[in-house]
Amino acid sequence: MSITKESELIGMKKISEVVGTTLKLMREYAKVGMSTKELDEYGGEILKSYGAKSAPYETYGFPGYSCISINKEAAHGIPSNKKILKEGDLINIDVSAELNGFWSDNGGSFVLGKDIHNHQPLVDASKSILRKAINNIKGGVKISEIGYLIETEAKKSGFKVIRNLAGHGVGRSLHEKPENILNYRVKSNRERFKKNTTVAIETFISTNSTVAVELNDGWTLVGNKGGYVTQHEQTILVTDKYPVILTASNEIWN
Ligand code: CO
Ligand code: CO
Repeated sequence: MSITKESELIGMKKISEVVGTTLKLMREYAKVGMSTKELDEYGGEILKSYGAKSAPYETYGFPGYSCISINKEAAHGIPSNKKILKEGDLINIDVSAELNGFWSDNGGSFVLGKDIHNHQPLVDASKSILRKAINNIKGGVKISEIGYLIETEAKKSGFKVIRNLAGHGVGRSLHEKPENILNYRVKSNRERFKKNTTVAIETFISTNSTVAVELNDGWTLVGNKGGYVTQHEQTILVTDKYPVILTASNEIWN
């Protein structure tokens, strides 16, 4: 959305702090032996305590308050009593919600406990690529340039990007224009980031796959060529200098 009034910025800051805090607390709460359903309900209670409404649950009819994807699941993993967290699991939590008509979105991948499957290099690459991408965004920068940066940095780290998942505008709804802030360059896309707009930037860095495909549960996405995918996402305010990280309370970069 385009921020034109102080009250809009306050509204975006508030919901961004809520989803960021929820993501951080959920990450800290995740333990070996816990089901992803239990983790999801914990997050759902936190959102409720702030009066915020889960975006996937309320708007998209998703069977959970947040998306929790483990191991081979790339995104939109459904919280379940049957999915029990194990040592060394690669976990992604994505929390998006609405409060007072404002929407914000954030997510992050992490390794649970000891990194016995060596997922950390992928997680670290994803984090640092997101940070680099965001640091290069300001009013007037082409969206395709940031896609090129993400793709190039992934390659340098020995990884690939998922081509059909993307960042997006956010604010008055979960997904707004610009609709496709892709992780690679589309040369024909001349769209530019605009000062004083709020956007969700998200990286999808993978070991093998380049396309996310849906399982027949209608939600869960996995890589077309297997392997693992990590995602990190922040909602930001574009300025004419460095962006303001509205969801910084998630501490995904710490
Ligand atoms: Co998003
Ligand atoms: Co998200």
